[in-house]
Amino acid sequence: MNLFPEGFDCVDEVVQIQDLTLTITRPRSAEALITEEEYANDERLPYWADIWPSGRVLAEELARRELVGTRILELGAGLSLPSLTGLAHGALPLATDWYPDALSFARANAARAGFGALATMEVDWSYPPDALFLEESFDLIIGADIAYERRHAQQLGALLTRLATPATEVLLADPRRPDASALIELLKNQGWSHQRDERRLAGHIDEQGPVVYLHRFFSPNPITNDAHEPGCDSLA
Ligand SMILES: C[S@@+](CC[C@H](N)C(=O)[O-])C[C@H]1O[C@@H](n2cnc3c(N)ncnc32)[C@H](O)[C@@H]1O
Repeated sequence: MNLFPEGFDCVDEVVQIQDLTLTITRPRSAEALITEEEYANDERLPYWADIWPSGRVLAEELARRELVGTRILELGAGLSLPSLTGLAHGALPLATDWYPDALSFARANAARAGFGALATMEVDWSYPPDALFLEESFDLIIGADIAYERRHAQQLGALLTRLATPATEVLLADPRRPDASALIELLKNQGWSHQRDERRLAGHIDEQGPVVYLHRFFSPNPITNDAHEPGCDSLA
């Protein structure tokens, strides 16, 4: 039985995340998926169809952690490499994107790898479904390369503010996109604590170069800030 969506010209990409070797089936060319109709629909572009360097960095970070039973929400997950890594390590990820095809590929890759069912939800940051807020709260909210347009700061800032509890850690991998700084400043101005680490990629770099920032935030709740003062512990 073919687990993957019909109608795509696919390729297999082998990804090594520490001890975990993952074969990710994905569309051969994201560019070939661009359509005028999709772009007319809120300027959608099929960035989901690639595994971005930030996704690898975030997956590597997760693979270094104790994740059993950790409730993870991934925003703009695309092919969902971090969620797949989390699932393989015993976490409970919910992978989300505004492209249903991305989520179909993510579920199929999880099933083919023998990781079991990957929970997914179609989520547009501007119009998040009520169901997202009915989920049990998340321990970790993650996103890889999701703040790359001007409008993303407001969209993600509002969404994170609604979703993060005082105990939620927000972890964003960012290949130093110019528009990411607007989100970081917005959250900091709202009183979120912020810590930035730097990761260097050995291969698979894109036009942003080998350095990816890992941003770690906690919401401004004073109890949370006492417990997670930046600088008290390290991401590495
Ligand atoms: C640069 S790609 C990164 C994909 C994946 N996180 C990775 O690192 O491989 C950005 C992702 O954000 C998703 N995205 C962009 N705008 C979105 C929105 N308004 N709501 C939900 N997802 C969105 C895209 O569909 C895409 O999957």
